Amino acid sequence: MIKIQKNSIMHTVKKDKFVIQGLGGKKTLSGKIAVKGAKNAILPVMASGILFKDGFTATNVPEIEDLGRMAEIFDGLGLQINKQARGKYLINSEGINGAEIDENASKHLRASVIFTGPLLARQGELIFPHPGGCVIGARPIDLFLEGFKKMGAAVEIKKNKYFVKAKNGKLRGAEIFFKIQSVTATETFIMAGVLAKGKTILKNVALEPEIVDLVNFLNSCGAQIKGAGTPTIEISGGGLLKAKGQIYKTMPDRLETGSFLILGALCADNLEICDCNPQHIEILTEMLKDSGVNLELGKDYIKIINNGGKPNGHFKSLNIKTREYPGFPTDLQAPLVVYLTQVGGDSFIFETIFEGRLNYTEDLVKMGAVIKMWDAHRATVNGPTVLKGRELDGPDIRTGFAFVIAGLVAKNESIINNVYYIDRGYESIEKRLRQIGADIKRIN
Ligand code: EPU
Repeated sequence: MIKIQKNSIMHTVKKDKFVIQGLGGKKTLSGKIAVKGAKNAILPVMASGILFKDGFTATNVPEIEDLGRMAEIFDGLGLQINKQARGKYLINSEGINGAEIDENASKHLRASVIFTGPLLARQGELIFPHPGGCVIGARPIDLFLEGFKKMGAAVEIKKNKYFVKAKNGKLRGAEIFFKIQSVTATETFIMAGVLAKGKTILKNVALEPEIVDLVNFLNSCGAQIKGAGTPTIEISGGGLLKAKGQIYKTMPDRLETGSFLILGALCADNLEICDCNPQHIEILTEMLKDSGVNLELGKDYIKIINNGGKPNGHFKSLNIKTREYPGFPTDLQAPLVVYLTQVGGDSFIFETIFEGRLNYTEDLVKMGAVIKMWDAHRATVNGPTVLKGRELDGPDIRTGFAFVIAGLVAKNESIINNVYYIDRGYESIEKRLRQIGADIKRIN
């Protein structure tokens, strides 16, 4: 067994760049591209290892940078995460001996906050720094701190760290109403509730499919959780879970599916996106169909059909408002805005989840897009425009991919810096895009 590689983030991968030769609006990509396992599903499932007496195997795990950060956190807590083969990992918490979340990993991974609930529930105490991650907004953690208090824990802040202690070393079940629907807060408190004393009721929870997937897995290992996928979740607390040889298969990444769909709509003639779940991305397929893109949806694939002959300027504009699932995902807002720069007419964008997630539009404007920002949350895109290749710095995972799409649709060459961000969420993306005909190279 190989111990998972923990890259020293800033020193190695961050300097990679992508060099892209743009298609100048031609739609020549074609073939088949497979979707990998979902980042936002495997991260909470890995953290759930803390709730287990034994270990479990996870398959279809995407080989992404964020795994390295998870491994650093595991290491600091005495947990094991071992690679058995590509995409196959063994997760085991038998050696757990800590309650502090690694500061360096946490600085680069907002999802590190998912560890807080299971760790506090198992160890009775918890120390963690304010989590960092993608620069997409303020990203407070008030819901987490309020929830811990409701479950009978005391919270102290000393030297920029949170010190949390459960009364008598054990969390107690509580009723928690979330004032904002939060994906990771929902996941954290589900996991906290699994080991808490008594019943935990979570209200106004997030409905994302990754939450349902986590709950299905935990229930299959002995947890008692009802209501995932609805606004109220009830957890009956009990002892440590047992996997008893159970294997967790990571669900397909709906955000990668959506990213490929948007890329395909702009740059491909016939493209099949396979190993995905089209039901998880219905909002996007419905919108693209409204806009004029010809799609065929199967059980686990989406095909873009005979798209090459239609100039993008003939597609219709769209109005989007980002929302919690099943609404339009904030994570696909930047890729869709690139699409909207190519279609005819005015599109209106309302980003309701994160206040920093439209900042990248100034880079698209420098490429030739016509985008008017009304405030931090609202913008109008007027298309179609010809984008001209240039050098771009991706500020987060999804904007990084949006810039790859912009580079491919543009005229001439583009250079995308900060490929580290793209690597955090998309496995070997340049190799996979080359297989469908994209001219994209990694330079380090
Ligand atoms: N919020 C608070 N207080 C909190 C927690 C959240 O005000 O204590 C606010 C946030 O500032 C935001 C809103 O609640 O305005 C929703 O944020 P949420 O907590 O749902 O985001 P998250 O759980 O940190 C997850 C995904 C993100 C995705 C968002 C929104 C994971 C690991 N991350 O983040 O994914 O953008 O939900 O859907 O599941 C990505 O994959 O690139 C990514 C950033």
